[in-house]
Amino acid sequence: MKLKVSVIGTGYLGATHAACMSSMGFEVVGIDVDALKISALASGKIPFYEPDLQELLQKEISSGRLTFSTDFNSIADADVHFICVGTPQLENSLAADLQYIDAALEAIAPICKPGSLVVGKSTVPVGTAARLREKLLRINPEADLAWNPEFLREGFAVEDTLRPNRLVVGVTSDAAENTLKEIYRTNLEAKTPWVRADLPTAELVKVAANSFLATKISFINAMAEICEAAGGDVTVLAEAIGYDPRIGSRFLQAGIGFGGGCLPKDIRAFMARASELGADQALEFLREIDSINLRARQRVIELVRKDLSQDLTGKSIAVLGAAFKPDSDDVRDSPALDIAAQIAAAGAKVTVHDPKAIAPAKKRFPALNYCESIEETLGGADLVLHLTEWKIYRELDPLKMKSLVASPVIIDGRNALDRDAWVAAGWKFRALGRTN
Ligand code: UDX
Repeated sequence: MKLKVSVIGTGYLGATHAACMSSMGFEVVGIDVDALKISALASGKIPFYEPDLQELLQKEISSGRLTFSTDFNSIADADVHFICVGTPQLENSLAADLQYIDAALEAIAPICKPGSLVVGKSTVPVGTAARLREKLLRINPEADLAWNPEFLREGFAVEDTLRPNRLVVGVTSDAAENTLKEIYRTNLEAKTPWVRADLPTAELVKVAANSFLATKISFINAMAEICEAAGGDVTVLAEAIGYDPRIGSRFLQAGIGFGGGCLPKDIRAFMARASELGADQALEFLREIDSINLRARQRVIELVRKDLSQDLTGKSIAVLGAAFKPDSDDVRDSPALDIAAQIAAAGAKVTVHDPKAIAPAKKRFPALNYCESIEETLGGADLVLHLTEWKIYRELDPLKMKSLVASPVIIDGRNALDRDAWVAAGWKFRALGRTN
């Protein structure tokens, strides 16, 4: 008989995991304390934008395998409970807020059946899994807890969940590993690499991977600063070093840096945890990674001032992009929106366009102007900022766009536009790390 699965926490990670587990043939119940979220999901609507997820969700609900509830009693008979709640950054601290994960464990511990497995997927400070396992066993000695970090990228969440490039399981027994092998049988048949680890290593894999990615991005952004100082071109430099297979070309896109709900908070929480462990020196470099990242935003603002004037009062600036990256409506720690807000605070009249993220952006920064049409956004602009590399922006006709603006100056904050085409159409084209 197929295992019954529960997914606790139906945000970004949980909603995707629940729909994907159902599509793998399991009976799945998604649980959340947010009744509004649950009723939206139960009616087949996801409260955020993610390609392919809505279709999959609706298909799985119709199959009868996937249901949603706010009642923990409805999952008391499940064999495996995935915990997918958020671990945001604490206010006034670099550390992660673990209140939701503790609440989830405390809700499931007294009711889960003997032999069931609680599996943490959320990103947590190392040591959390062992602490939660102890707590679980104290309340329910016949259950067990494992850690199975999630590596999905926004914009590719369904693909990454159904076909992950590796599966990492932190376990303390063969029985727990075997249960997870049963869950991921289709992936194992497809030869997905399987890494068995202890609990702390499994937790660390996730933050180590995100720290590495953040480091790669900040490395190329540091090279962009050097290119600016020395008169070079970081896009050519990135291409050239990327051909070395030991380096690789991915995550070497210089620009306004990383944002989103994971990378920034994960490296900060990792530093905070290392400090608690007395190992702060080992992660001292992440502080530099964070500051290079935040500096990229200031460098764009400096470019704006250089091109317009030190005083931005009354200048009309069009911003293309609000999401932290394309194919997402996520504006958490979005470099694009942060830059837009800072320029507006300096007195400029800022109008922001984004194909998907206007509603969440409005919630975060209600004082900015937002516009659904690219043409209207650019209308009469003194300067255009390209800050999120959506495909539609790459497909813009520079000649047509020139006829809309007051002054044809564009800053490509993502090094993603075709510079030659914009220059040929008569634009003054600026980009981070490109001086010639
Ligand atoms: C990331 C990890 O990739 C994923 O494995 C983990 O599970 C969650 O965190 P995500 O936040 O969806 O995923 O975004 P990602 O694609 O990693 O991009 C992060 C940020 O880096 C974005 O703001 C993106 O614009 C920026 N970035 C990425 C660059 O500035 N340059 C690059 O070359 C790549």
